[in-house]
Amino acid sequence: MATILILVGTESGNAQMVADALKPVLKGAGHAVDVTDSAATTADLQSHDVLLVVCATHGSGDIPTNILPLVETLQRDKPDLSGHRYGVIALGDMTYQDTFCGAGKKVDEVLETCGAKKVGDRLEVDASTQPLPDEEALTWIEGWKNQV
Ligand SMILES: Cc1cc2nc3c(=O)[nH]c(=O)nc-3n(C[C@H](O)[C@H](O)[C@H](O)COP(=O)(O)O)c2cc1C
Repeated sequence: MATILILVGTESGNAQMVADALKPVLKGAGHAVDVTDSAATTADLQSHDVLLVVCATHGSGDIPTNILPLVETLQRDKPDLSGHRYGVIALGDMTYQDTFCGAGKKVDEVLETCGAKKVGDRLEVDASTQPLPDEEALTWIEGWKNQV
């Protein structure tokens, strides 16, 4: 059993919907689960074994404003997260081509830079072909929940 923090990066609610769908699945697997879409801190990450990032992309490959301060802190301070594991679900839209899922990719990169160990492959959900992002996420989580 792990303590998991689901960090939601969202502008218009899709990522929150995904997080809300995943929370009971992870709890059902025996994990303790917190969800935050507010300004989380490095200490919030360090107080959980595992971080699950559910992150939309906005602007042109930009990180949602609600988690931007945290991501900028991680990029600047590079706190030691080597004792922690993480997964990434990136929400995007293929019609944005070069910036597809850019924010989720950036968060993935910074967590790796901080030494956190990735569990599973990053899930990238394309809104242009998948109008219900929670469906793909619910399939993905079945494999992920047993690896953390
Ligand atoms: C103004 C705007 C800009 C966007 N820019 C990108 C982008 O650069 N790359 C991408 O992959 N998706 C982009 N998207 C698609 C969103 O990431 C996608 O719709 C996502 O599901 C939104 O999640 P949210 O409701 O949690 O914010 C953009 C959407 C909007 C409305």
